[in-house]
Amino acid sequence: MRNVRIINGTPATKSRYGSHYGERIFLLGSERYREWIPWRSKLSAMILKGYEIEMKGEEKILYLGAASGTTLSHLADIVDEGIIYAVEYSAKPFLKLLELARERENIIPLLFDAGKPWLYSGIVEKVDFIYQDIAQKNQIEILRMNSEFFLKKGGEFLIMVKAKSIDSTADSRGVFSRVLKDLSKDFRILHHDTLEPYHRDHIFVHGKF
Ligand SMILES: C[S@@+](CC[C@H](N)C(=O)[O-])C[C@H]1O[C@@H](n2cnc3c(N)ncnc32)[C@H](O)[C@@H]1O
Repeated sequence: MRNVRIINGTPATKSRYGSHYGERIFLLGSERYREWIPWRSKLSAMILKGYEIEMKGEEKILYLGAASGTTLSHLADIVDEGIIYAVEYSAKPFLKLLELARERENIIPLLFDAGKPWLYSGIVEKVDFIYQDIAQKNQIEILRMNSEFFLKKGGEFLIMVKAKSIDSTADSRGVFSRVLKDLSKDFRILHHDTLEPYHRDHIFVHGKF
């Protein structure tokens, strides 16, 4: 992926910025890279498992479930000429996200419930890509609603699905196959895989609207 390379077996993003969450900084000649710890970020785990999503660097992205900005900070390094609308509804992680947004011009922080996209429809424009990492029972419905509001036709999404938040007692494989079937009603699924061994009980699904 653009601005990403593997350093000492771990992904890292080329960055003009310092450490956001205690990650190490590597200097390679005149370039600076921020370590992207796969146990801390599902997107880093996906990349380390060998799956790549093409980014040109100018994309408009809607990020649902941005938390304190761990993965967001790396995504902002990747789309350094684009813009990321970062939605998070919990005030505590949002404060740290605000610190990040203060130094990064390409992050717009939004303290909203991603299950109510109409509340931020006056702020967010049409986007090329939705990245969602929300451990909620209705996470597929949240993706569907936000895609209808904001995703361009032919736009792509990447969702990190946690089986236990959809059904805490059912077998994960059964939950994942129901999720894939549900998603394929409105989206074309391009790829999916587990995030083992970095994140148990999760899959990522990459698709197109
Ligand atoms: C697994 S964490 C996200 C981690 C983050 N994506 C990262 O990699 O750095 C899930 C986040 O989603 C947020 N969240 C859950 N439901 C939400 C909703 N309906 N609207 C907005 N944020 C939500 C939680 O507060 C939490 O911070």
